[in-house]
Amino acid sequence: MRPRFFLFTDNLKDQRVKRFTEECKSRNIEVRLINIYRAILTDRVIFDENDEEIIIEKNDIAWALSNLTTGHFVAKKLKMENIQIWPNAEAIDFADKFFTNMFFSHIGIPTPKTVLINSYHFDKTVNKVGGFPCVIKKNVSTVGKFVEIVNNDSEARNFIKEAFDQAKNNILPLNRLRFLFQEFIKESAGTDYRVLCLDGKILGAIKREAQEGFKSNVSLGGKATQVEVDEKLREYSQRIMQKGKLFYAGLDFIKKGNDYLAIEVNTSAQFKGFEKATGINVAGKIIEALLKK
Ligand SMILES: Nc1ncnc2c1ncn2[C@@H]1O[C@H](COP(=O)(O)OP(=O)(O)O)[C@@H](O)[C@H]1O
Ligand SMILES: [Mg+2]
Repeated sequence: MRPRFFLFTDNLKDQRVKRFTEECKSRNIEVRLINIYRAILTDRVIFDENDEEIIIEKNDIAWALSNLTTGHFVAKKLKMENIQIWPNAEAIDFADKFFTNMFFSHIGIPTPKTVLINSYHFDKTVNKVGGFPCVIKKNVSTVGKFVEIVNNDSEARNFIKEAFDQAKNNILPLNRLRFLFQEFIKESAGTDYRVLCLDGKILGAIKREAQEGFKSNVSLGGKATQVEVDEKLREYSQRIMQKGKLFYAGLDFIKKGNDYLAIEVNTSAQFKGFEKATGINVAGKIIEALLKK
């Protein structure tokens, strides 16, 4: 039977959905889109939004854009059934920024000093990263939404309060909500480097520059241009991909002096800006690589 492509997503307008669908069509691969926020997971079965059982066969391929509630369980279930999904059950840990920082340090990749916030008594904690001002982050978050610079206790408290308030409408992920302080790398402010990697290869890199503020996310107006992957970026990226057993990822770095500090692993990284800046058909390459796995 021909493999089918199961795409778990919460947003049908997401560019990845559009591009994967196009690339599957041109290869005659059937695509099934599943609204991951409406899917229901029992101990045996995943039901789609129409309450129909989703049956994924061994030679099918699956991709999941993250969902904090069901995401890692879907990945674990498919692993038990020996079905390929990306991000897989291990890679999904990288959605947590604190886990990711620990991982970088463990494998000898430079990363900004980072500490998990364990209570509202911030003083000893924040001293581990050099004190205020510093960066505060929600551990699971994207597009620069919950990353700020805080100057004192009350700003840190407000940040945490706001994150809890926003999460309230969606109570299930709350038990995964954590916060971290990180040293602010002033000299890198507004610029980061995204290296896109697939199946043991480096596809290329883009530099993102903020138009204002210190966050360079493209979704916040950061401008992307293609850059060379220098020796150091290549070595760091290869080590992260290999030690993390990562099939696909966008790796984010900021620069400090002549070195790079790794800040993030995006296992389902957007590639619209990258395809545009480089002319590389990322969606097509991902499908091909998944099929031959
Ligand atoms: N410690 C830091 N020092 C300086 N700039 C940072 C630091 N951490 C993040 N940034 C900037 O903020 C942006 C968003 O932070 P990031 O951790 O990647 O969160 P998100 O997952 O929301 O993209 C980064 O791309 C970078 O430009
Ligand atoms: Mg980022």
